[in-house]
Amino acid sequence: MRTPFICGNWKMYKTVSEALAFLDAAKGLVAGAAGVEVGIGAPATALKSLADAARGSNIRIGGENCHWEKEGAFTGEISVPMLVEAGCAFVIVGHSERRQYFGETNETVNRKVKAALAGGLAVIMCCGETLGEREAGRTGAVVTDHVKNGLAGLTPAEMTKVVVAYEPVWAIGTGRTATPGQAQEAHAVIRELLAGMFGDQTAEATRIQYGGSVKPENVEEIMAQPDVDGALVGGASLKPDSFAKLVNFRA
Ligand code: 13P
Repeated sequence: MRTPFICGNWKMYKTVSEALAFLDAAKGLVAGAAGVEVGIGAPATALKSLADAARGSNIRIGGENCHWEKEGAFTGEISVPMLVEAGCAFVIVGHSERRQYFGETNETVNRKVKAALAGGLAVIMCCGETLGEREAGRTGAVVTDHVKNGLAGLTPAEMTKVVVAYEPVWAIGTGRTATPGQAQEAHAVIRELLAGMFGDQTAEATRIQYGGSVKPENVEEIMAQPDVDGALVGGASLKPDSFAKLVNFRA
């Protein structure tokens, strides 16, 4: 059985004090969520304070990006050991915003995934097509390209620490959610692909999150799809009440 994983992705929102105020309010609201893994991907400046404040709770903290080198002359970057020491449990890699605005490619995504795993972090690796790609009938091909190359060279043992997030770019921040059927269809493609790459057992055990305009109003029907094992949530993860409703999607 795959444990559902509901994770916020705060993107470039929240100062340290705003992040701590959120956590203070959210901790109690999500504490009762049994059988759900809860995470927040947060800006680098807030990670240490958040991770310290989250200790003893069921909320895990993660970075939104990392570099593949442990250290070096890479101005503005953050390394895996830095995330680990700050108290992170995971890192989000390959988000479409990083691919679109910061030149991330399948190759750099793959290097980051490997570095994160080697350094002891779990990984959420994102994939997903643009609207143009969907309209051209290329959804399956794009998702296959992202997953195949992003996870190339990993072992089934390493895959136990990897979550794949399917995030159609046209559904991110637009209010336009994929229908549950569209999500399920893409997730099934991903799971079949994982079976070919790593074997049936690994494919069955790997969690695939959906991301793109997930809200309290639609989380239940999305989570009801057989191959949807969680959600990666931007806008609706920024308010404690809304975040708690997502985490408590079964309630
Ligand atoms: P929204 O939930 O704001 O659409 O963002 C989704 C996302 O990009 C999560 O990584």
